Amino acid sequence: MVFDYIDGGADDEITLRRNTERFLGHELLWDVLRDVSTIDTSANVLGQAVSAPIIMAPTASSRLFNPRAGERAVARAAHTHGLLYSVSTLASTSIETIAQETPGPKVFQIYVWKDRGLVREILQRAKAAGFVAIVLTVDTPVAGNRERDPRNHFSIPPKVSAHTAAQALVRPGYLFDLATTPPIRAENFAHIAGGVGSIVDFINTQFDRTVTWRDAAWMREQWDGAFAIKGVGRPSDAAQCIDLGADAVWVSNHGGRQLDTAPATIDLLKPIADAVAGRGQIILDGGIRRGSDIAKALALGANAVAIGRPYLWGLAALGEAGVNRALDILTSELQRTMALLGRSRIAALGLDIVADVQDADTRSRHLDR
Ligand code: FNR
Ligand code: LAC
Repeated sequence: MVFDYIDGGADDEITLRRNTERFLGHELLWDVLRDVSTIDTSANVLGQAVSAPIIMAPTASSRLFNPRAGERAVARAAHTHGLLYSVSTLASTSIETIAQETPGPKVFQIYVWKDRGLVREILQRAKAAGFVAIVLTVDTPVAGNRERDPRNHFSIPPKVSAHTAAQALVRPGYLFDLATTPPIRAENFAHIAGGVGSIVDFINTQFDRTVTWRDAAWMREQWDGAFAIKGVGRPSDAAQCIDLGADAVWVSNHGGRQLDTAPATIDLLKPIADAVAGRGQIILDGGIRRGSDIAKALALGANAVAIGRPYLWGLAALGEAGVNRALDILTSELQRTMALLGRSRIAALGLDIVADVQDADTRSRHLDR
């Protein structure tokens, strides 16, 4: 049930599958006889110098996957790798605890709650804890329909019942960790009504369906650091984000967990990059599984990519060491891909290295350069 919460998507999981499949539908075109003795993946993302343009995406309740360390393990691994961690509003560890854990730059993801006082309070806490940027997620006016969860009788926090007992009992180590650590809850809201029952209930009661562009502009005014808007799919919406003062547009379909049959994010990227036209940064997530996927996204106009499931699988398997392993794999793959492409710097990953397999005209144009 815990694996399915990470792995699953909305409805028929069409978008979930498409996100990864469409990276395969893009080909890489390479240069020969270039000096690739040093590969430099460093970049600037949301005003921060990072060792690679890879962000740990905000994901709810990491202690579900590793009850002992949870978000603290992710924060430490991100810091070890010199990468940005975007902590979820629905984290199972408080902003303050995560901030104590690592000195590295951290980003905080928020939603617009019905209770605006709660929003203001959480922004002040993020500021006081030294967070450098805010990400406003806008693709979640209601929770997506992830059918694996009710089928598994899964909830956050997980409950051991007649339905889940068999699954829980084959993981005694996990059960032991659950039983001997504090209860899993949305720790940033533990002070209201004793925390939060199920995350889906919380989303459906606190998420404000009346939120519009005006509230996004209000949010921008409340925060004086870098500000990104996550969950954008249309070029016109991306342009509007920049117009209201966002520093970055985060192209995302929530990893296929919200609106099913939405396009793969990699197919949405180029028109959005054209609309933003360098007036802000672009972050892309959804289906990044290999270093070559990162190269494709950067070539098509992203300044950075974000990953969700890849680090969560590492976390679930092996805690902090597992997150480190996932990041080692992705960063070394990015370096190898760049060497094979004949491009030694991130800025050199231009449009001419990619072609859609179904688009022979663009391929021959890019091959000709
Ligand atoms: C998410 N995502 C997410 N996004 C967000 O803005 N706030 C959140 O609390 C969560 N929670 C969450 C939980 C889990 C288990 C997953 C897998 C994802 C979406 C996440 O930030 C990101 O958009 C996707 O995970 C990117 O797709 P990949 O890399 O998982 O394919
Ligand atoms: C998810 C929500 C919590 O994707 O954003 O699980």
